[in-house]
Amino acid sequence: MKKPIISKYKINSLSTYRWSPRAFSERPVEKEKIRRILAAARWAPSAFNEQPWRFILGIKGQETYNKVLKTLVEWNQKWAGHAPVLILNVTKKTFSLNGKPNAAFKYDLGQAVAHLSLEAMNQGVYSHQMSGFSQEKAIQLFQIPDDYQPVSVIALGYYGKPELLPEDMYKSEIEKRKRQALDDMVFANNFGEKTDIF
Ligand SMILES: Cc1cc2nc3c(=O)[nH]c(=O)nc-3n(C[C@H](O)[C@H](O)[C@H](O)COP(=O)(O)O)c2cc1C
Repeated sequence: MKKPIISKYKINSLSTYRWSPRAFSERPVEKEKIRRILAAARWAPSAFNEQPWRFILGIKGQETYNKVLKTLVEWNQKWAGHAPVLILNVTKKTFSLNGKPNAAFKYDLGQAVAHLSLEAMNQGVYSHQMSGFSQEKAIQLFQIPDDYQPVSVIALGYYGKPELLPEDMYKSEIEKRKRQALDDMVFANNFGEKTDIF
Protein backbone atom coordinates (compact mmCIF):
# COMPACT_ATOMS: atom_id res chain seq x y z
CA MET A 1 0.00 0.00 0.00
CA LYS A 2 1.33 3.41 -0.96
CA LYS A 3 0.40 6.50 1.06
CA PRO A 4 2.19 9.40 -0.60
CA ILE A 5 2.08 12.76 1.16
CA ILE A 6 -0.43 15.33 0.04
CA SER A 7 1.40 18.63 -0.18
CA LYS A 8 1.23 21.87 -2.10
CA TYR A 9 5.01 21.75 -2.27
CA LYS A 10 6.82 19.12 -4.33
CA ILE A 11 9.49 17.26 -2.34
CA ASN A 12 11.85 14.34 -3.00
CA SER A 13 10.26 10.97 -3.73
CA LEU A 14 11.77 9.15 -0.71
CA SER A 15 10.14 11.54 1.76
CA THR A 16 6.98 11.49 -0.35
CA TYR A 17 6.57 7.73 -0.16
CA ARG A 18 8.07 6.93 3.27
CA TRP A 19 5.47 6.07 5.85
CA SER A 20 5.32 3.81 8.90
CA PRO A 21 3.32 0.66 8.15
CA ARG A 22 2.50 -2.14 10.58
CA ALA A 23 1.70 -4.77 7.95
CA PHE A 24 5.09 -6.30 7.24
CA SER A 25 5.71 -9.23 4.94
CA GLU A 26 7.72 -12.19 6.28
CA ARG A 27 9.95 -11.90 3.18
CA PRO A 28 13.52 -11.43 4.43
CA VAL A 29 15.41 -8.26 3.58
CA GLU A 30 18.53 -8.99 1.54
CA LYS A 31 21.79 -8.67 3.57
CA GLU A 32 23.25 -6.23 1.02
CA LYS A 33 20.22 -3.98 1.44
CA ILE A 34 20.60 -4.08 5.24
CA ARG A 35 24.25 -3.11 4.83
CA ARG A 36 23.34 -0.18 2.58
CA ILE A 37 20.62 1.00 4.96
CA LEU A 38 23.04 0.99 7.91
CA ALA A 39 25.72 2.70 5.80
CA ALA A 40 23.33 5.62 5.29
CA ALA A 41 23.01 5.98 9.07
CA ARG A 42 26.78 5.89 9.39
CA TRP A 43 27.15 8.89 7.10
CA ALA A 44 24.67 11.09 8.96
CA PRO A 45 26.07 14.32 10.42
CA SER A 46 26.52 14.69 14.19
CA ALA A 47 27.73 17.24 16.74
CA PHE A 48 31.56 17.30 16.66
CA ASN A 49 31.28 14.24 14.39
CA GLU A 50 30.87 12.15 17.55
CA GLN A 51 28.60 9.63 15.79
CA PRO A 52 27.06 8.60 19.13
CA TRP A 53 24.65 6.09 17.51
CA ARG A 54 24.99 2.35 18.00
CA PHE A 55 22.67 -0.21 16.42
CA ILE A 56 21.88 -3.69 17.72
CA LEU A 57 20.83 -5.58 14.63
CA GLY A 58 18.25 -8.33 14.93
CA ILE A 59 17.49 -10.48 11.91
CA LYS A 60 14.54 -12.86 12.20
CA GLY A 61 15.69 -16.37 13.09
CA GLN A 62 18.55 -15.07 15.24
CA GLU A 63 18.65 -14.71 19.05
CA THR A 64 19.32 -10.95 18.84
CA TYR A 65 16.00 -10.51 17.03
CA ASN A 66 14.13 -12.38 19.78
CA LYS A 67 15.79 -10.23 22.42
CA VAL A 68 14.90 -6.94 20.67
CA LEU A 69 11.33 -8.20 20.25
CA LYS A 70 11.14 -8.96 23.99
CA THR A 71 11.93 -5.32 24.83
CA LEU A 72 8.83 -4.06 22.96
CA VAL A 73 5.54 -3.32 24.71
CA GLU A 74 2.96 -6.01 24.01
CA TRP A 75 1.00 -3.91 21.51
CA ASN A 76 4.09 -3.28 19.39
CA GLN A 77 5.13 -6.94 19.65
CA LYS A 78 1.85 -7.94 17.96
CA TRP A 79 2.72 -6.30 14.67
CA ALA A 80 6.50 -5.82 14.83
CA GLY A 81 7.04 -9.54 15.38
CA HIS A 82 6.25 -10.06 11.69
CA ALA A 83 8.96 -7.67 10.48
CA PRO A 84 12.10 -9.49 9.31
CA VAL A 85 14.48 -6.96 10.88
CA LEU A 86 14.35 -5.24 14.28
CA ILE A 87 17.06 -2.80 15.29
CA LEU A 88 17.58 -1.42 18.80
CA ASN A 89 18.82 2.17 18.51
CA VAL A 90 21.29 3.17 21.21
CA THR A 91 23.24 6.40 21.73
CA LYS A 92 26.26 7.54 23.74
CA LYS A 93 25.58 10.26 26.29
CA THR A 94 29.06 11.79 26.51
CA PHE A 95 31.76 12.95 24.11
CA SER A 96 34.54 10.42 23.62
CA LEU A 97 37.14 13.20 23.50
CA ASN A 98 36.59 14.69 26.97
CA GLY A 99 33.85 12.68 28.71
CA LYS A 100 31.60 15.77 28.93
CA PRO A 101 27.82 15.42 28.40
CA ASN A 102 26.78 15.61 24.75
CA ALA A 103 23.58 17.70 24.64
CA ALA A 104 22.91 16.40 21.11
CA PHE A 105 23.15 12.68 21.87
CA LYS A 106 19.53 11.86 21.12
CA TYR A 107 19.28 14.43 18.35
CA ASP A 108 22.19 12.78 16.53
CA LEU A 109 20.73 9.28 16.92
CA GLY A 110 17.40 10.53 15.59
CA GLN A 111 19.13 12.04 12.63
CA ALA A 112 21.01 8.82 11.87
CA VAL A 113 17.74 6.88 12.06
CA ALA A 114 16.09 9.41 9.72
CA HIS A 115 18.87 8.83 7.18
CA LEU A 116 18.50 5.08 7.70
CA SER A 117 14.76 5.18 7.08
CA LEU A 118 15.10 7.19 3.87
CA GLU A 119 17.77 4.83 2.54
CA ALA A 120 15.46 1.95 3.45
CA MET A 121 12.80 3.57 1.26
CA ASN A 122 15.41 3.97 -1.46
CA GLN A 123 15.88 0.17 -1.28
CA GLY A 124 12.11 -0.42 -1.41
CA VAL A 125 12.10 -1.34 2.29
CA TYR A 126 9.63 0.17 4.79
CA SER A 127 10.55 1.22 8.31
CA HIS A 128 8.57 1.85 11.49
CA GLN A 129 10.16 3.45 14.54
CA MET A 130 8.98 2.73 18.07
CA SER A 131 9.55 4.27 21.47
CA GLY A 132 7.11 1.76 22.96
CA PHE A 133 9.75 -0.49 24.48
CA SER A 134 11.41 -1.03 27.85
CA GLN A 135 14.75 0.73 28.24
CA GLU A 136 15.42 -1.27 31.39
CA LYS A 137 14.86 -4.59 29.61
CA ALA A 138 17.08 -3.48 26.71
CA ILE A 139 19.88 -2.44 29.08
CA GLN A 140 19.66 -5.74 30.90
CA LEU A 141 19.27 -8.05 27.87
CA PHE A 142 22.09 -6.44 25.89
CA GLN A 143 24.36 -5.42 28.79
CA ILE A 144 24.37 -1.81 27.63
CA PRO A 145 27.01 0.25 29.51
CA ASP A 146 25.99 3.23 31.73
CA ASP A 147 27.27 5.76 29.26
CA TYR A 148 24.80 4.62 26.59
CA GLN A 149 21.04 4.92 26.35
CA PRO A 150 18.69 2.77 24.28
CA VAL A 151 16.17 5.20 22.75
CA SER A 152 14.04 3.38 20.20
CA VAL A 153 13.53 0.31 18.07
CA ILE A 154 13.01 0.33 14.30
CA ALA A 155 11.31 -2.39 12.31
CA LEU A 156 12.32 -2.91 8.69
CA GLY A 157 10.79 -5.01 5.95
CA TYR A 158 8.75 -5.29 2.80
CA TYR A 159 5.10 -4.41 2.80
CA GLY A 160 2.72 -7.21 3.75
CA LYS A 161 -1.03 -7.77 3.90
CA PRO A 162 -2.93 -5.11 5.88
CA GLU A 163 -6.03 -7.32 6.09
CA LEU A 164 -4.11 -9.65 8.44
CA LEU A 165 -3.73 -6.89 11.06
CA PRO A 166 -5.99 -6.74 14.15
CA GLU A 167 -8.93 -4.35 13.61
CA ASP A 168 -7.57 -1.29 15.48
CA MET A 169 -4.27 -1.52 13.61
CA TYR A 170 -5.99 -2.06 10.28
CA LYS A 171 -7.95 1.16 10.81
CA SER A 172 -4.86 3.28 11.34
CA GLU A 173 -3.06 1.45 8.52
CA ILE A 174 -5.54 2.76 5.96
CA GLU A 175 -6.01 6.21 7.54
CA LYS A 176 -4.90 9.29 5.67
CA ARG A 177 -1.52 10.63 6.80
CA LYS A 178 -1.81 13.86 8.80
CA ARG A 179 0.50 16.71 9.68
CA GLN A 180 0.15 20.11 11.32
CA ALA A 181 0.14 23.08 8.96
CA LEU A 182 3.53 24.51 8.00
CA ASP A 183 2.65 27.94 9.32
CA ASP A 184 1.91 26.42 12.73
CA MET A 185 5.51 25.21 12.97
CA VAL A 186 7.59 27.78 11.12
CA PHE A 187 7.90 31.15 12.83
CA ALA A 188 9.49 34.53 12.29
CA ASN A 189 10.25 37.24 14.82
CA ASN A 190 9.04 35.82 18.12
CA PHE A 191 8.10 32.24 18.83
CA GLY A 192 4.59 31.58 17.53
CA GLU A 193 4.55 34.44 15.01
CA LYS A 194 3.73 33.31 11.51
CA THR A 195 6.02 33.99 8.55
CA ASP A 196 4.72 35.31 5.24
CA ILE A 197 6.57 32.64 3.24
CA PHE A 198 3.66 30.20 2.86
C1 LIG B 1 10.33 8.31 18.13
C2 LIG B 1 9.14 7.60 17.56
C3 LIG B 1 8.44 6.70 18.36
C4 LIG B 1 7.34 5.99 17.84
N1 LIG B 1 6.76 5.02 18.61
C5 LIG B 1 5.84 4.20 18.05
C6 LIG B 1 5.38 3.05 18.77
O1 LIG B 1 5.83 2.74 19.88
N2 LIG B 1 4.45 2.27 18.15
C7 LIG B 1 3.96 2.54 16.91
O2 LIG B 1 3.13 1.77 16.41
N3 LIG B 1 4.40 3.61 16.19
C8 LIG B 1 5.33 4.45 16.73
N4 LIG B 1 5.85 5.51 16.00
C9 LIG B 1 5.34 5.78 14.65
C10 LIG B 1 4.56 7.08 14.58
O3 LIG B 1 3.30 6.91 15.17
C11 LIG B 1 4.45 7.56 13.12
O4 LIG B 1 5.73 7.84 12.63
C12 LIG B 1 3.59 8.80 12.99
O5 LIG B 1 2.25 8.50 13.30
C13 LIG B 1 3.64 9.41 11.61
O6 LIG B 1 3.27 8.47 10.65
P1 LIG B 1 4.14 8.21 9.34
O7 LIG B 1 5.54 7.80 9.83
O8 LIG B 1 3.44 7.09 8.63
O9 LIG B 1 4.20 9.47 8.57
C14 LIG B 1 6.92 6.23 16.50
C15 LIG B 1 7.62 7.14 15.71
C16 LIG B 1 8.73 7.81 16.21
C17 LIG B 1 9.51 8.73 15.31
